[in-house]
Amino acid sequence: MNIIVKQPESPEELRQYFDLRWRILRAPWGQPQGSEKDDIEDHCFHLIAKHNNQTVGVGRLSYNSATEAQIRYMAVAEDYERKGIGRMVVRYLEQQAINSGISTIVLHAREPAVGFYQRLGYHLEEKSYVLFDEIQHYRMTKSLMA
Ligand SMILES: CC(C)(COP(=O)(O)OP(=O)(O)OC[C@H]1O[C@@H](n2cnc3c(N)ncnc32)[C@H](O)[C@@H]1OP(=O)(O)O)[C@@H](O)C(=O)NCCC(=O)NCCS
Repeated sequence: MNIIVKQPESPEELRQYFDLRWRILRAPWGQPQGSEKDDIEDHCFHLIAKHNNQTVGVGRLSYNSATEAQIRYMAVAEDYERKGIGRMVVRYLEQQAINSGISTIVLHAREPAVGFYQRLGYHLEEKSYVLFDEIQHYRMTKSLMA
């Protein structure tokens, strides 16, 4: 499968980027369009994974400090799960972090995604917050110094 991972650039790529976030991470819990964005989007690094000109995976890197970054809003379209797309997006986000001098990545994984991040070398730290009264999150970290 020919997957291209890139930053969203055109208005259509940006639309597809936020739309996939919303469809996977917000719509199933009845959340309105717009709820998939926060107020730091302009300061983040965004990636899309494309197949046949359609966005099938997304992810975002934000910067917590000069040495720590955070991965958020990882989502892969249902028909494309378990094909290595999530791994590709995380790897590209990690490479961007390394290029920016980041030494540690933190994230808050939804409970069903903890195993995915563990496969990619993330260490389970502790329970963190509960989203929409039902989605338990777990704080996970990875050192990029190895
Ligand atoms: C979690 C998610 C991003 C994973 O993306 P994906 O493209 O399906 O994952 P990949 O195919 O790249 O999987 C990489 C590895 O993790 C494993 N894996 C993937 N999802 C997993 C899961 N939920 N639990 C355990 N292992 C998982 C794969 O089997 C693969 O293992 P391998 O190293 O043996 O090949 C995707 O399933 C998704 O969007 N889920 C719904 C939204 C979500 O929960 N996002 C995360 C919010 S924190």
